[in-house]
Amino acid sequence: MSIKARDILDMNAFHGAVEDPLVARRMANMGAASTLFFERPIEMVSAQGAEMTAADGTVYLDLYNNVPSVGHSHPHVVAAVQEQVAKLNTNSRYLSEVTEAYSERLLATVPVADARIAYTCSGSEANDLALRIARLETGKRGVVVTEAAYHGNTAAVTEVSPVSYRRGTVPEFVKLIPPPGPAYGEDIAGGFAAALRAAIDALEAEGHGFAAFLCDSIFSSDGVFAYDWSALAAAEEVTHSAGGLYIADEVQPGFGRTGRGLWAVGAARVAPDILTMGKPMGNGFPMAAMVAQADLLRRFADAFGYFNTFAGNPVAAAAGSAVLDVIEDEDLITHAAGIGGLLIEGLSKMESPVIGAVRGCGLYLGVDIVAGDTPDPERAAQLINDLRDRGIMVGAAGKYGHTLKIRPPLCLSAEQAGRFLDVFGGLVSGPA
Ligand SMILES: Cc1ncc(COP(=O)(O)O)c(C=O)c1O
Repeated sequence: MSIKARDILDMNAFHGAVEDPLVARRMANMGAASTLFFERPIEMVSAQGAEMTAADGTVYLDLYNNVPSVGHSHPHVVAAVQEQVAKLNTNSRYLSEVTEAYSERLLATVPVADARIAYTCSGSEANDLALRIARLETGKRGVVVTEAAYHGNTAAVTEVSPVSYRRGTVPEFVKLIPPPGPAYGEDIAGGFAAALRAAIDALEAEGHGFAAFLCDSIFSSDGVFAYDWSALAAAEEVTHSAGGLYIADEVQPGFGRTGRGLWAVGAARVAPDILTMGKPMGNGFPMAAMVAQADLLRRFADAFGYFNTFAGNPVAAAAGSAVLDVIEDEDLITHAAGIGGLLIEGLSKMESPVIGAVRGCGLYLGVDIVAGDTPDPERAAQLINDLRDRGIMVGAAGKYGHTLKIRPPLCLSAEQAGRFLDVFGGLVSGPA
C-alpha cells in the first residue's frame, strides 16, 4: 500500500496560516511545540456535561474527550476538588487520610494480584515507571508493542510509541505487531499470539531479550480494535511463558469507558503484572498511576526508590474519589454500554461509500474512512472539520490517520448520540 503512515500529532492538526491573534500569540509563545486541533482552532471558554462552549458562543458537542470522562465540570468533582484545595494540598510525603482512602478503594478494583500503587502525574510517567520495573525485573531490554501504539512522551516511552515518529522509527529493541484485527484473518487471537511469539523470538535472537509486552487494551491509536478480547488473554499467555511482564496500558480504556467494568483487562480476564492508568482518573485534575504486584515494586524500590512531588496529593485523591463516586452513582459503565450500542448500531446501518469498518466497545468507537479499499485520511480530516463546522467534535486515529475516533464523555445522552448520527449521516450519505 503506497499510503503513508501518519504520526499521531499530525492527525486533525492545525497547519494553517496564523490569522487569529490568539493563534499568533500561541505560536509566539510555544513555537513548534504547539499542537492545535482543527483547520480553524477553537478558543474554548467553558464546558458542561458533554458540551463545550467557545468564546464566540458556539456550543460544541464533545465526542472526543477522554479527560472529563464523567462530564465536563461535573459538580461533584468540582466540589470535592474545591473543598480539598481550600483545606490542604502538599507533596506526597505526609500522611493523608484522603489519599489512603482513595488508594484502598482503587486497589480493590484492579485485576493485578497483590497490587500496590505508585502515583504519577501523567500516563507517560506511569508507563515509564512500568518499563523501568520490567527491565530491572527481567534484566532484558526488549519490548513488544502494536504498530501504531502511543504510550506517552518521555524518552523511554517515545521509543515504544511508533506512532510518534515523524522521521525514522523505533529502536531495534522494540518490535511491532499489528493490533488484533483483520490483519490476522479468521483467527484473530491465534494470529495475534503468534505474531507476539515471533516478535519475542526476534528480540531474543538479536540478543535484546524480552522484558515486556506493553499493550493499550483498546488499541486506541492503532484505530480502536476491541472486538476480540480473547486476543488479550492469548497475549498474556505468550508473554508469561516467555518470561516477560504484561503491562496493561489502561490510560485510554480505563475507568469504565468500554462499558465492561472499570478495566478492559478485567473484563477480558487478563491478569497483568502491571497496569497503568491516567487521563479520566481525575476528570481533568492531572493525575495518573501505575499499579504493580507488591514484589515487583519492592525489588524496584530496593534499587532506586520512588518519589514524585505532586503525585497522589490530597487534591488528586479527592478528585479521583469523586470520579469513582460519579461512575457508581450515575451507573456510567452501564450507560456507556447502552449509548455506545446505539452509536455502533446507527453507524453500522449507514449506507455510505466512505464508511469502511465500524469498531468499538462502549463509548470508544473507530470508524474507518475509505475510498474503495484504500484508507482515506484526507476525507477523514475533511469530515472532522465539516463536523466541527456543524458543532460536533471527533478525532482521528490509526496508522494512516483514516479512522474517526469517537470517544465522548461517558454521560453522553441518547439525544446527543442521535444528534451526531443525524449530522454525520447527512455528511457521508452523498457520493464518495
Ligand atoms: C494509551 C496511552 N498511554 C499513555 C498515554 C500518555 O498519557 P499522558 O499524556 O498523560 O502522559 C496516552 C496519551 O494519550 C495514551 O493514549
